Amino acid sequence: DPSLSARIGALLRDVPDFPQPGILFKDIAPLLADADGFAATVTALGPTEPVDLVAGIEARGFVLAGALAHELGCGLVPVRKAGKLPPPTVRRSYDLEYGSAEIEVPVGVLEGKRVLVVDDVLATGGTLRASVELLAEAGATVVELAVILEIAALGGRAALADLPPLRALVTA
Ligand code: PRP
Ligand code: MG
Repeated sequence: DPSLSARIGALLRDVPDFPQPGILFKDIAPLLADADGFAATVTALGPTEPVDLVAGIEARGFVLAGALAHELGCGLVPVRKAGKLPPPTVRRSYDLEYGSAEIEVPVGVLEGKRVLVVDDVLATGGTLRASVELLAEAGATVVELAVILEIAALGGRAALADLPPLRALVTA
């Protein structure tokens, strides 16, 4: 929906040189603070086929996944930064545009579940790839990925070409 993309795009704020020099940070705070924009965004992130769970990637993906799971009437699973979840979990490290990180998902709630993965931004794709691989390792079937914003210049879509279908509401 081009008009929705334009509305969402207008509520994203570019912040140069954050959190490091040379990085153009995409701030979703104005979008989250806009009642109509937030509601429309959450609905548009929804799956195109039935799912049991929405997985949200810490931290900004949590906000979206919680609202969407409630709207869909399905469950939620957190993909967390490593060290925050109690065992048993599975863990994986990955490279970020700025630095590297480790994430973790709970084992025991994912076996046999159909999962939609949501996050705010697709940059290099490292976070989404690690998340999808972990969810699969924990026994889930990831059916779809959805983000608000895809930063095309960073090549994330191509890097994730072998994963389930990815939808972005806005491409920059
Ligand atoms: C940001 C963003 C995505 C990820 C995208 O999260 O919210 O999750 O980077 O980058 P990638 O496609 O290159 O992996 P970040 O871990 O910086 O912080 P957050 O906890 O604020 O979401
Ligand atoms: Mg994030």
